[in-house]
Amino acid sequence: MSKPSVLVARKTFDDIVDRLRQRFEVETNDSDTGWSQDELIRRLQGKAGVYIAGGDKIDAKLLDACPDLKAVCTMAVGYNNIDVPACTARGVLVTNAPDVLTETTADFGFALMMATARRITESEHFLRRGEWKQWSVTMFAGADLHGATLGVLGMGRIGAAIARRGHLGFGMPVIYHNRSRLPADQEGPLGAQWVEKDELLQRADHLVIVVPYSASSHHLIGQRELRLMKKTATLTNIARGGVVDDAALAAELQAGTIAAAGLDVFEGEPTVHPALLACTNVVLTPHIASATIATRRAMSDLAVDNLIAALTGGVPPTALNPEVLKR
Ligand code: GLV
Repeated sequence: MSKPSVLVARKTFDDIVDRLRQRFEVETNDSDTGWSQDELIRRLQGKAGVYIAGGDKIDAKLLDACPDLKAVCTMAVGYNNIDVPACTARGVLVTNAPDVLTETTADFGFALMMATARRITESEHFLRRGEWKQWSVTMFAGADLHGATLGVLGMGRIGAAIARRGHLGFGMPVIYHNRSRLPADQEGPLGAQWVEKDELLQRADHLVIVVPYSASSHHLIGQRELRLMKKTATLTNIARGGVVDDAALAAELQAGTIAAAGLDVFEGEPTVHPALLACTNVVLTPHIASATIATRRAMSDLAVDNLIAALTGGVPPTALNPEVLKR
């Protein structure tokens, strides 16, 4: 019997791809540039599985054009690029890569929040430009994190890991908003109190956004929400572009409505809104919250574990629509 064929649509670690080669015919994308959807459709002909990353769009059009496809395995935790109901309707298994990136991403969220509050990149740019001529008592004076109120919008695994860091490490009172409230035995160790979204915005000294992107979280933070925040507050977004209205954020940062923002994700990335680039009070990073070698390897490994299990009759560890396996 011939081996199933799979497509690795995103460049990843060679030894991890070798695990697929031991079992399947494998075609790989050896460049860091993703394929257009037409190219992806062309290369998926005759393929039973695909390994993708967050930027690769899997929708009904692609599924209808790729009738041999049985498994879509992303190395990301976020899967707003995949139409899961359309996959389920066609019996295509979808898996993502949760858990393995939680602590790394929370570390980064905290780092970005600290860099934002303490004006680290802004002051570094000033120094590199040769503008540091003297000491001054208020030079790059920012906001404290210790003891300040941490607001977490979206209390999933990553939100909880950030809350834990703030509560245990920095003595921060933690408030959060999530559609569903955590049980008391989970709130307790995080020192976290559930509040309505508007109250979260009004009370947080440092707001971190960690909600998945969907139609219902599109522009969850826009002009109205920003204007509820404290003038001294910071906002950090490590969730997805589109959760924050970037144009509104740039305008409110320029107007001094909030003190500063830290952004790892953007609407239309890798393009960044020019008005954000023009703001000095924003720390910008290129969607790297999960980027440590160990964690990127773990994410890739998990996607490969899922793909192998899906195509060899095993149980994929992190299926999003496991009901298709029962058919
Ligand atoms: C990164 O953004 C991910 O969803 O894993």
